[in-house]
Amino acid sequence: MKYRRMPIEIESPEQIGYGSIRCNLTESSVTDMHLEQLNHLFNPADLALAYTDHIGKPELRELIAAGGKGLSAKDVLVTPSAAAALFIVSTALLEAQDHLVVMRPNYATNIETPRAIGCRVDFLDLRFEDGFRFNIHALEALIKPETRLISLTSPHNPTGMVLSQSELQAVINLAEKHNCYLLVDETYREMNFSAFCPLAAELSPRCISVSSLSKSYGLPGIRIGWIITRDAALQELFLAAKEQIFICNSIIDEELAYQALAHKDVLLPPILKRNRDAFESVKNWMAVQELIEWVEPQGGVVCFPRIKTDSGVDVDLFYRILNEECGTWVGPGHWFEMERRFMRIGYGWPNPQELADGLSNLSRALKAAQKG
Ligand SMILES: Cc1ncc(COP(=O)(O)O)c(C=O)c1O
Repeated sequence: MKYRRMPIEIESPEQIGYGSIRCNLTESSVTDMHLEQLNHLFNPADLALAYTDHIGKPELRELIAAGGKGLSAKDVLVTPSAAAALFIVSTALLEAQDHLVVMRPNYATNIETPRAIGCRVDFLDLRFEDGFRFNIHALEALIKPETRLISLTSPHNPTGMVLSQSELQAVINLAEKHNCYLLVDETYREMNFSAFCPLAAELSPRCISVSSLSKSYGLPGIRIGWIITRDAALQELFLAAKEQIFICNSIIDEELAYQALAHKDVLLPPILKRNRDAFESVKNWMAVQELIEWVEPQGGVVCFPRIKTDSGVDVDLFYRILNEECGTWVGPGHWFEMERRFMRIGYGWPNPQELADGLSNLSRALKAAQKG
């Protein structure tokens, strides 16, 4: 494995220091939940701080499986986060001689771990000009006899594109035809603005669904995610990987995750409502912007607009003014291997005032960085 740190991690607010950021529009989750919202639901003092079931707390797996049709607890492996789940899937399935097709841009781990393994990677590029939609024929053209894995993310980070059910089915048909696995990173699934797509793992044993509680529940600090597949031998392989890295999950994290999912009906609707309100604010703001353009997202907590080429905006100057003078941070395009004129704006995390201030600082920095 050849590891390297990713720009999105090196330049993350956790590393820069939250103290120097007044308006934080870099996050890709909703506002963080607080422990007091969950710990009154059980008595932490009752927990024996022991190793847990290596597959994951059975009741938690049952709740996760209940999120899809025809799934059962045995199809679910609980992992310490979606990032860990993605790492397990890549390292369990891919070796240097294998080939992978992965969406780009993407959440960095989906690309970086296969790169660290040294396998051959072809990118399924999502282009602004195509409304960030992917083309099934472009995907098929990238598949080779040695393709082991197709890796997609939906709802997508950073564009907010959502695969339709028929698009997902078409990719599954391809994976089945070419005898490869399909990984779908569904970490934002509950934040789809329209009807839910089924979990990919429901639709075929060739599919691997990955998700977590980080994004939609605002629980990135408890590090609980999961892998779902109906292929029992594959799940056993993933369990072997999990045991070698972690043995099991933290019992405290699992209990908090269980309580969050058990009280989903109460906890999730207000979070989703607040996220939609934040999205409406961004939409209203975008409607009057002249220097940037976007593809309107269909789900998630982020959008990915870009500075227009003919806007005359000096991109480096824009970021300097935005960060240094306005104390406002977004995710610049290079975090996603895209031109820096793209920017990811996370609208789900800041409170309404911080979001409003951040958006107006963006307008101000764009104007101030305009040449001539
Ligand atoms: C698409 C996607 N998948 C996975 C993750 C990792 O999430 P977790 O906190 O569960 O590791 C992220 C985090 O940004 C993400 O955007």
